[in-house]
Amino acid sequence: MNKPKHIAIIMDGNGRWAQKQGLKRIKGHEAGAEVVRSITEYCAKNDEINRLTLYAFSTENWKRPRLEVEFLMKLLEKYLKKELPTYLKNGIRFEAIGDIRAFSSNLQKTILHVEEATKKGDALVQSLALNYGSHNEIVRAFNKLKTKENITEEMLYNALDCKEDVDILIRTGGDKRLSNFLLWQAAYAELFFLNTLWPDFSAKELEKIIHKFKKIERRFGGLK
Ligand code: IPE
Ligand code: IPE
Ligand code: MG
Repeated sequence: MNKPKHIAIIMDGNGRWAQKQGLKRIKGHEAGAEVVRSITEYCAKNDEINRLTLYAFSTENWKRPRLEVEFLMKLLEKYLKKELPTYLKNGIRFEAIGDIRAFSSNLQKTILHVEEATKKGDALVQSLALNYGSHNEIVRAFNKLKTKENITEEMLYNALDCKEDVDILIRTGGDKRLSNFLLWQAAYAELFFLNTLWPDFSAKELEKIIHKFKKIERRFGGLK
């Protein structure tokens, strides 16, 4: 049976969740952060899952109104500071992917501090995609390589921020697109598009997806 080693999620639908109940969009982001906590804890307790990559802020999300962007930055800083004890308690290693140099120096410090403090965690890697876009990641990878040799797939993979193939890719919120997320790493991922808005997502729904995933015949281009 397939093992769900690497799960990646496009956490979409926070704003619509809030607006549906007459709340401001930012309330949806707050509710979404709670779901991040519960899904991360579930994944840390599941021995088959090694890595959970969550799309939190894309390279395109800077186009949003300044106040929403500022709120997201504050929420991220608050979340990381608050989560540190939970990461340590559950053996979770936190890692950021994406170009965090665009963030304020305080936020960058918090990110690096939590990465450093949790680096011994061995139950799960929670990888947050922050100012992440696949195009940007691939271009940075090529620039890191700076070589005249022919570049191999392995060399490029090793220069990417995220170096692991995705097994299950989930998008909540009803849209069926990848929005510049893990384009290289999801080459053979099994895709699950859900209508559920992110703040309504639960470990129970994730369990159902894992159950379906286990029964899929993954051929990777070969024959069964
Ligand atoms: C996803 O929810 C969270 C981020 C992109 C930060 P959205 O904010 O995109 O919510 P919708 O899609 O507008 O409902
Ligand atoms: C994708 O959601 C990015 C994150 C979840 C962080 P968006 O809401 O930004 O995606 P589009 O604009 O609908 O493609
Ligand atoms: Mg959205």
